[in-house]
Amino acid sequence: MYNFEYKNPVKIIFGKGTIAKLTGEVPSGTKIMMTYGGGSIFKNGVYDQVKKALEGFDVVEFGGIEANPTYETCMKALEVVKKEQTGFLLAVGGGSVLDGTKFIAAAALYEHGDPWKILSGEEKAPVTRALPIGTVLTLPATGSEMNGNSVISRTSTQEKMSFGSAAVMPRFSILDPETVFTLPDRQVANGVVDAFVHVMEQYLTFPVNAPLQDRMAEAILQTLIEEGPKVLANRTDYEAAANFMWSATMALNGLIGVGVPQDWATHGIGHELTAYHGIDHARTLAIVLPGLMNIRRREKEAKILQYGERIWGITDGTPDARIDQTIARTTGFFEQMGIPTTLSEYGVTDSTIGKIENRFARRNTLMGENKDIDSRLTRTILTDRL
Ligand code: NZQ
Ligand code: ZN
Repeated sequence: MYNFEYKNPVKIIFGKGTIAKLTGEVPSGTKIMMTYGGGSIFKNGVYDQVKKALEGFDVVEFGGIEANPTYETCMKALEVVKKEQTGFLLAVGGGSVLDGTKFIAAAALYEHGDPWKILSGEEKAPVTRALPIGTVLTLPATGSEMNGNSVISRTSTQEKMSFGSAAVMPRFSILDPETVFTLPDRQVANGVVDAFVHVMEQYLTFPVNAPLQDRMAEAILQTLIEEGPKVLANRTDYEAAANFMWSATMALNGLIGVGVPQDWATHGIGHELTAYHGIDHARTLAIVLPGLMNIRRREKEAKILQYGERIWGITDGTPDARIDQTIARTTGFFEQMGIPTTLSEYGVTDSTIGKIENRFARRNTLMGENKDIDSRLTRTILTDRL
């Protein structure tokens, strides 16, 4: 196992009826900006619960943070933060609202010019300060509620970039599994697959003798495989919703990734498919991961065989035959959740692969646990999924 340091200060408040606990968590004596997305919180009663808990607090609202939150929208929110002099941000929604709010919180105290530099460019300066944040999560998927990551898109340049900083880890996150009850099928499927691939990014690399991290990762995968279809079949199954929600948080709160190599190339490549074609984040991962497993089968052989055996019970045949079966079971699970796994199903052609290859070549992008997935290998992986 590698050396590591781990600190996760996010207070999790989990369970039915917990949104009311906001009252005891948000600071008094400072103006709060509540952020939200396109309006789902008005339809499912979350808005009313939040407003009730915030009675007597000084609150301004900023709505309209879109899926794949944009720099453009966040910069508008930043104007409100400055005008209203808000001292605390409360994000209410899915990963996009949480990520957008993290960026706004960092941009509010950023001292190096245009906040886009938080995400991109040669002058990229790390985020060391941010306004404090709290969250009410309404969509299990990203783990954003318990990590310091944020992914922001820029419409004008068709870019999607990320940053990570302990400064934007939420002070608290409220997770009420009943919020899952109103999710459309598409978002349930996306959430399950996103969480699944978060585990794979931290697990499917090469062995470093970390059996505890491996088994924790496998436990999350197994739980998602069991609970995901239950949530899809019955949206008001509280127990299934709760298990799904906690699995998604555990998949990306840093714990399973300590002391082990991590990949993240599936995400890096997937973000480009969202940037160019607007494909939902999780859906890009369902396309890329099988291609990555296929093309990197030698480098990842030991872990793919372990994953195939422990998760899918695949033990017979040559290593290559077992790897083929393991990839087929993985794509089968994504498809069972209703998610396509090839580029052609989205009408994406070789011309997009060329654009991504050129962009990565320009940026000198190197990804993967061995930092050897470059623009050319990206082309090979994507071509495998045409
Ligand atoms: O905008 P509203 O009206 O709220 O509707 C949303 C949105 O349309 C809806 N929704 C959310 N909760 C709902 C609901 N509808 C009904 N009932 C509810 N309870 O769902 C739609 C999708 O929401 P979004 O927040 O975009 O989804 P998700 O949580 O999957 O977040 C995706 C974003 O997170 C980033 C992705 O790249 C993408 O931009 N990621 C963030 C990560 C992180 N911070 O650690 C890691 C991930 O790998 C990922 O990259
Ligand atoms: Zn993800």
